[in-house]
Formats: sequence, C-alpha cells, structure tokens
Amino acid sequence: MKDRFLCSLKGQKVDHPPIWFMRQAGRFLFEYRFLRSKSGSFLDLCFSSDFIVAATLQPIKRYDLDAVIVFSDILLLPFLMGLKLEFVDGLGPFFLNPIRNVDDINKLHDICFVKDFIFVLNAINIIVKELNDDVPLIGFSGSPWTLAVYMVEGKITKNFSFIKKLLYSNTNVLHTLLKKLEKNIINYLCCQIDYGAKILMIFDTWGGVLPIFYYKLFSFDYIINIIKEVKLYKNVPFIIFSKGINRFLFDFFKNESNIIFDVVSFDDSDDMFSIVNKTPVNIAIQGNLDPCVLYSDDLFISKYVNDMLKKCYNRNKYIFNLGHGVYPDVNPYSLELIINIIKMYKN
Ligand code: CP3
Repeated sequence: MKDRFLCSLKGQKVDHPPIWFMRQAGRFLFEYRFLRSKSGSFLDLCFSSDFIVAATLQPIKRYDLDAVIVFSDILLLPFLMGLKLEFVDGLGPFFLNPIRNVDDINKLHDICFVKDFIFVLNAINIIVKELNDDVPLIGFSGSPWTLAVYMVEGKITKNFSFIKKLLYSNTNVLHTLLKKLEKNIINYLCCQIDYGAKILMIFDTWGGVLPIFYYKLFSFDYIINIIKEVKLYKNVPFIIFSKGINRFLFDFFKNESNIIFDVVSFDDSDDMFSIVNKTPVNIAIQGNLDPCVLYSDDLFISKYVNDMLKKCYNRNKYIFNLGHGVYPDVNPYSLELIINIIKMYKN
C-alpha cells in the first residue's frame, strides 16, 4: 500500500500498521559498516550529501518499511552553532568547549539557513525524489533540553550535574540557551519541510531526567512552541519521542483537549494496553517494543510481538516502532522477522 504512514495518521483504514524503526540506518547493518569503513569519521559522513542519501536509503532497500528517517545527528546543530564536536568510537559524542556560563552562550552564533545545512537539505531533496511519494521522509531535531544537556555536560553523563547546576542556580541562563536553541530548531525544521520532509520528529531523549514538575517548564513548553511555530509555516505531522515522560503525558492528556502534536513515540516502560487506554484517539501511538527483544530467538520475538499487537492492532493511528533505537549488535534478520509477523498478524 502506498503511503501507509500518512494514510494512517489521517485516520484512514490501512491494511496493517505502518512500520519503521528508530535508528534503522546505522551500525547494525553490514552495508552501513561497509560504507563507514571506506570513509572518515562519523562527523565527516554526516557532512557528505552522498553518504546521507546512501545511508538513509539502505534500510528501505533491505526491508519493506513505511518511512525513512534522514541519516544525520541531533548534535550537528550545536556543532554548527560553534561548539567543537567529536565522536569517539565506542564512547559517543564529546563537546570540547561545553557551555558553562552566559559568555559561552553569547559565543554561540545563529545558524545561517539554508547555507550551513545545505549538505543535509540537498540530500533530503535527492532522497525524496528517489522515494517517489511511496513512503515519507522523516526530518528531525533534538529538543532544546536534550541538546542543552549535551552542550552543557559535554559528553554522555550519569548524573547530569552540570546541566542541573545551571537549572537550580542560574535558571535564567539556562532559559537563554533553550530559547536560542528553540529559534534555530524552528528554522532548521522549516528548511527540512522546504526540501521535502513530510513528517517531523523531535527527540527528547533526556526529558525524563528532569523532575516531573520541571519537565513542562524546561522541555515540554519549548517543544510545543517549536511545533506551534513550524505548523504556522506548514502543517506537517509531528512525532514527539518521549523517553521517560509517559507519566507526564498521561496527566497532560487528562487535562488538555487541544493537543498540537500528532504522534507520541513511547518508550518501553509502559504496557501497550495502558498506553492505548490513556492516549486520546486522535493522537497516533508509536512504539514501544523493548529494543532488547530483538536479541531473542524467533519464538520469543514472535510471541512478544504478537502479545503487543493484540493490545494495539485494532487501534486506529498505531505505528509500529521500538521504544528506542535499534542497537548496533542486533542481528538484521530480527527486523525482517518482526516485519513479517506484523504483516501476517491476524486478530
Ligand atoms: O536511523 C536513524 O535514526 C538515523 C539517524 C540518527 C542518528 N542519530 C545517527 C547516529 C538519529 C535520528 C540520531 C538521533 C540522536 N543522536 C539522538 C536521539 C535519539 C536517541 O537515540 O536517543 C541522540 C541522543 C543522538 C546523539 C548521539 N549520536 C549519541 C549519544 C551517539 C553515540 C551513541 C551511539 O548510538 O553510537 C551518536 C552517534 C550516532 N548517531 C551514530 C549514528 C548512526 C553512530 C555513529 C557511528 O557510525 O559510529
């Protein structure tokens, strides 16, 4: 079926739930590792339009998927705003000059659109032509809070002490940073639409490290503002990735009827039954298969996925995905298995 994803978001009947995987383009694929080994660093790859096109299309050449996500990284935006970034194999990203005070924020410059991101935007343009309107391309950005976490901590962290120190001792400075990010993210997402992205996604990977009563103020409100502004420009569907904030969202759904985002990508912490019950019918549900289930054998995967489908298959606006990205050491065959299970599922 053509464009299963967008049909499902419009509430139209689809033959089976649309399927895609977060981090479907990446190291678990032999063909990605092959391309990667021939080129320079991860960052070099991120700046090559040819590589972006090739890596984005690899999963759709191998699997019958209903969406592609542009191969890029949320940390390119702070990099282009002036923070020196390195990705160290096995250790992840490092900012060599992390943000610690207002002077550091003042040194960040606004992105020059479309010039600074032209390598991604040109790639988006080529990918969309290749896809021929059969499946949509998902564009994305990190949330201001999640980007700020990396920019202030400088690296992957366990206790988030630098960013929380800023939050508790210099709140206005943190808001200045978040506001600056918000503005640049809005511009970046609008450019992605201009070049052909049909759906946009905001990754708020670290929203869940905030105490729940601060989540709204320091993360959610910024995300909502971004969505409002971008939708004024063009009304494309928005997915928010909610890692660790289900409790907040369920309360929000109880009290709020005018919801501006279209899809929530749920992590694996809640049972699908409760997600279906607590999410309003006009909001699409995406997720929430534990990515580690993909390590198991065929029988277990099949039982687990079938149990999950039982709880959500008949819900209008359900999109299959994992609760987080595919891990690099997963066997590519397990994705194919899951796709077949969904396609063959009978209620
Ligand atoms: O299929 C896709 O989803 C492709 C595009 C994509 C990447 N990063 C490529 C990538 C997307 C959507 C992201 C988002 C991203 N990047 C997030 C939000 C989603 C999440 O996973 O929580 C975050 C927090 C980052 C920051 C980041 N990038 C980290 C912490 C790391 C190191 C850890 C890791 O997964 O390796 C990266 C590197 C990264 N981003 C790789 C890829 C394919 C691995 C780089 C390599 O090839 O060595």
